[in-house]
Amino acid sequence: MDLLAIMDMPENVMKEVISSAITLKKEGNRARRDLDGKVLISLYEKPSTRTRLSFEAAMYNLGGRSIVMDFKSSQLGRGETMADTARVLSRYGNAISARLFKHETLMELAKWADAPVINALTELEHPCQALADMQTIIEYKKDRGKLVYIGDAANNVANSIMLVAARYGMHVVLCCPSHFPPNEKYVKAAGKAGARIEVEHDPVKAVKGADVVYTDVWVSMGMEAEAEERMKHFLPYQLNGRLLKNAKPDCIVMHCLPAHRGVEITDEVLDGKNGRAVWDQAENRMWAQEALLLKLLKG
Ligand code: CP
Ligand code: NVA
Repeated sequence: MDLLAIMDMPENVMKEVISSAITLKKEGNRARRDLDGKVLISLYEKPSTRTRLSFEAAMYNLGGRSIVMDFKSSQLGRGETMADTARVLSRYGNAISARLFKHETLMELAKWADAPVINALTELEHPCQALADMQTIIEYKKDRGKLVYIGDAANNVANSIMLVAARYGMHVVLCCPSHFPPNEKYVKAAGKAGARIEVEHDPVKAVKGADVVYTDVWVSMGMEAEAEERMKHFLPYQLNGRLLKNAKPDCIVMHCLPAHRGVEITDEVLDGKNGRAVWDQAENRMWAQEALLLKLLKG
């Protein structure tokens, strides 16, 4: 089994992984032997702090090992095909994780790899982030409630979290400029999952009564050429103290990080009492990935 996208992840497996992540965190055992002798190979075409380190920590906590390969310093950077690379990596690793620019490159990797392949972020989805995010929401909000995603509601993080939250029955509101609408395929799938899902262009209306307010960068990796144009449109969608006053007083603010402080989110919000869940989100990447690795490698 691979984890290429939340879109293709069976709901029962998703829920099993998230509840196992919660249990692993409660147990807090960082010297397990479950993955003794197992190797995770990770391939990075784009930068990473959290994903790379949380996968490495997860493998060490479970008694396995982790090897990271940077695209540029590998033969991939000199034109070796993904198909050939995938076949070779499968001989060394028991699982492969990859952060790539194009989702289709990930599909090519998965097609040729014998080992399970995990999406560590593509332009389409960030499934590992969404698993950890839902774990965080469950930890803070027993009744789940209303999740507002404000900003670039068409990016990888938005696509993955809207589907996971929908499968947990949350009321999902996507708040974005009309120039940058959400991915229709994902909105439809979230609706099909049974969620109440809305697109709202007015930030004040959107955030009213929210239990969870999620934002992410306005310019994702690989979109740098559009930066100027995007800044113009997204400016009214900044998550600041004034806007947050419209949410429930005990709402949690979420951000996958890295944050551009003073751009999509202000210091006041990120460092304020509602922002504390962000650091749990980052920690939960490790527990959710431990649960995922155990599912993929041990069944
Ligand atoms: N949230 C996240 O994926 O962070 P990194 O880019 O640091 O891995
Ligand atoms: N949407 C962001 C997420 C970074 C973790 C990006 O793709 O750059």
